[in-house]
Amino acid sequence: MTSVGIDAIEIWTGKLVLDLPNTFAPVKGEDPEKYTKGLGLHTSSFPDVYEDIVTMGANAAKKLMDRKGLTPEDIGRIDVATESAFDNSKPVSTYIAGCLEQVYDGDFRYANKGERKFACIAGTQSLDDAYNWIKAGRNRGRAALVIATDTALYERGDPGEATQGAGAVAILIDEDPDLVELSTEQGYGSMDETDFLKPNQQFPSVDGKRSMQVYLARMREALEDYESVAGRTHPDDFEYIPFHTPFPGMVRKAALLGFRHMSRDTEIEDELEDEIGRQPRKADFETWDDYEEAIRAYMDDLKTTEQYRDWYARVIEPTLDISSRVGNWYTGSVHIARASALKAAAEEGKDMAGKQLLLGSYGSGAQAEIHAETVQETWLDEIDALDVDGQLAARTEISFDDYELIHDVHNHEKEIEVEEFSQPEGEFVFTGWGRMNERR
Ligand code: CAA
Repeated sequence: MTSVGIDAIEIWTGKLVLDLPNTFAPVKGEDPEKYTKGLGLHTSSFPDVYEDIVTMGANAAKKLMDRKGLTPEDIGRIDVATESAFDNSKPVSTYIAGCLEQVYDGDFRYANKGERKFACIAGTQSLDDAYNWIKAGRNRGRAALVIATDTALYERGDPGEATQGAGAVAILIDEDPDLVELSTEQGYGSMDETDFLKPNQQFPSVDGKRSMQVYLARMREALEDYESVAGRTHPDDFEYIPFHTPFPGMVRKAALLGFRHMSRDTEIEDELEDEIGRQPRKADFETWDDYEEAIRAYMDDLKTTEQYRDWYARVIEPTLDISSRVGNWYTGSVHIARASALKAAAEEGKDMAGKQLLLGSYGSGAQAEIHAETVQETWLDEIDALDVDGQLAARTEISFDDYELIHDVHNHEKEIEVEEFSQPEGEFVFTGWGRMNERR
């Protein structure tokens, strides 16, 4: 069987931008450095009044199909991953297919359409579904389209408000992919958790601090599970490690955990012995609490070492650039982390062909998945075709008052009319619930 993986990606950002340290923090009475240094966020994307998860997803998919010269008949499967769905029956993929059918000859009549839900990990789960569908030989030579689209909005006043964002990532999965091949091996960490949920409500109920602990616990289990099938990992096995990025500060914690785990019993641990001692071993402690406390103290020392800081600057920092400018895109977040890393590699002129990435995906509720990807020979053409900086620069900046209006417009419980802040430019626009979106 030929290789299967990601052939191309496209992103579509919400068209408005909010400056967090200079516009948001002062009104909230907060230190701007909480955003820039603590959370690692500078600006976030918001949808204009004529945007929603359908229009953003359809616009990303159209860019991708046009660039790859695809027609609907080339696609045998459309899965939308979202945690912002507004319809409990019809999948968002049907709405997006309806938009695309307005502009292409042919239709998606013979394509299997669905919607995946498991908080932010659903985008990666949809990739896995597409991979399995192709590997099983059920695709009849056709590719799969995965669209991760979300408006990540929190109740006003919720601490999560600082980490909001909106945008879509369209991903084409195919045989002989041009961007990355997906590994067969995967590791999971999965437990029933109630730290972040939306039972019949638009904005999430979140226990933010607990959600961070759950993220780290599930990610550690997923890494252990991955190693049980793929063998031991070493920090230098991977050129980049894109993690799910609700905000870059979360990834700082996940990266430290990953480095500690991957460097145990390696020459890195030997080199660091004189400086910070060896990693605590469970067998040396009478209670689990004592062991955990020793691990925490070791990690505090580890993050100050030159070895860790160099590795973080090389392997993790480049994955965070786009996220720091757009905020949380929930299901799309880990996929913009991958794009961010490959974009940085292209800008540095790195030869990435054959190099390995390790993806750390996560969804609240809660599940983490680890898998590896191999960068393909043709990766650079795909990344050069992504105009992320142009799109982000073209966003319209909003004031704090505008932000509150926009937040109300996208609150399904309110019905308010607000003028558009930007102009649509030949794109799908939202025309009302239950109505076909138009192109304007
Ligand atoms: N200068 C520098 N740093 C500062 C600072 C300053 N003046 N003020 C605060 N900070 C630092 C803090 O020390 C903290 O960093 P550490 O965690 O490394 O100590 C960071 O900035 C954030 O500050 P707070 O903890 O005080 O922020 P908060 O209490 O307002 O809320 C949050 C943070 C809990 C993450 C909140 O934004 C939230 O609830 N977010 C939504 C939930 C979320 O994203 N959880 C992540 C895991 S779940 C997941 O990943 C799924 C998903 O997509 C939602």
